[in-house]
Amino acid sequence: ATAQIGVTGLAVMGRNLARNLARHGFTVAVHNRSPERTRSLIAEHGGEGAFVPSESMADFVASLERPRAVIVMVKAGGPTDAVIDELMPLLEAGDIVVDCGNAHFADTRRREEALRGHGLHFVGTGVSGGEEGALHGPSIMPGGSDESYRKLGPIFERIAAQVEGTPCCRHIGPDGSGHFVKMVHNGIEYADMQLIAEAYDLLRAGLSASPAEIAEIFREWNTGELESFLIEITADVLAHTDAATGRPFVDVVLDQAEQKGTGRWTVQSALDLGIPITAIAEATFARSLSGHADQRAAARRAFTEAGGTFPGVDRETFVEDVRRALLASKIVAYAQGFDHIRAGSREYDWGIDLGGTATIWRGGCIIRARFLDRIRQAYDAEPELPTLLVAPWFADRVGAGVPAWRRVVADAARAGVPTPAFASSLAWFDGLRAERLPAALIQGLRDNFGAHTYHRVDRAGTFHTLWAGDRSEVEA
Ligand code: 6PG
Repeated sequence: ATAQIGVTGLAVMGRNLARNLARHGFTVAVHNRSPERTRSLIAEHGGEGAFVPSESMADFVASLERPRAVIVMVKAGGPTDAVIDELMPLLEAGDIVVDCGNAHFADTRRREEALRGHGLHFVGTGVSGGEEGALHGPSIMPGGSDESYRKLGPIFERIAAQVEGTPCCRHIGPDGSGHFVKMVHNGIEYADMQLIAEAYDLLRAGLSASPAEIAEIFREWNTGELESFLIEITADVLAHTDAATGRPFVDVVLDQAEQKGTGRWTVQSALDLGIPITAIAEATFARSLSGHADQRAAARRAFTEAGGTFPGVDRETFVEDVRRALLASKIVAYAQGFDHIRAGSREYDWGIDLGGTATIWRGGCIIRARFLDRIRQAYDAEPELPTLLVAPWFADRVGAGVPAWRRVVADAARAGVPTPAFASSLAWFDGLRAERLPAALIQGLRDNFGAHTYHRVDRAGTFHTLWAGDRSEVEA
């Protein structure tokens, strides 16, 4: 047994993770259900480092030094369970099974508990950064036991992206915490992408600009506070021309956004925890709406005259307004995501460090951005921050952006350009900062039709008004 770590499942993510490990000097056992993939990995990349290929699971496990660490990189759900079932009888107490797929954290909690019962460690690990990240340095979010991290930490921290000498990997917490954090990462990714898409749509409508011209605006934005991987690739995608037609690439792509499910899971979990992640939810629903082609066609036919017109805009002012609205909305999306992580951490007793989470998202992952360093600073300075929105740097940006944000959302509504994520972020902000909310009326209605009771602003207790009687108030 010579390999320090193994990877089973050699589709592109598994293959690239294995290569990344080997390139960093680790001896890597590799295995795939169909051996062709294992052979082609060795044929094409065997020279990059020390691989120990096996064609059977038993040989693969036998090639690992103890305690064994096996990375499973197969499809989430049934395929992951199938590989775990195959591995279990071959492993011994103290061995570690690492699931690097996008598993649901509840599945991870179940698997962790089951394997713990057999003396095994199960480490649900979020990995972000796509194919390139897996090869050149992803952001890695491992859950699981402290003991498992003692073995895995030094390996994962080596192969992760590095930002200013700090690896984009840290132990998130027990059982499902790593996959939970990765899930929320993806939720934020959905919101970030939707906000970018709305900004593009607004610029296109407001300026009658071409995608290539808008690409230049994104390139410019990427030199400032908005600097991020997603803004960078937005410029690339918008500047791209379709070879077959000579048209802008973005104009030949069918406008129906797909999803594999992590955004949906984020919203479902937020509903369970009672956390209003409105920007993430709207982003997820916007993808669903785009996919309802029949309804869209019917509504287009029914409302041919409904499109408004954009007010005449001064180009420079408008671009700056959209930039500020994008930054403010993006801050809201991240604030909501971090609220969600805090709520999950409390619910499941994970002890997640929010500043630490921001630290490992600074590089490697899809939402990597300059301002994640500000999030890290904000939570490091005040771990119990009520919301990221009020941390000084963010409060300044949001406060300064409010007039622009309102203009953009109002102009979009007048022009009939849908901005669900911009608008819901602004509504969340206005909801949080309101002196009084009409929630008071909702309480009154609930009490009226269902005797659901209410609290008063002026004295403690629970009250009910006898709506069907003399309308006097009784203490409930
Ligand atoms: C990442 C990505 C990655 C994947 C998403 C895409 O962090 O590297 O989030 O996990 O690209 O699962 O999700 P959708 O297909 O749902 O957009």
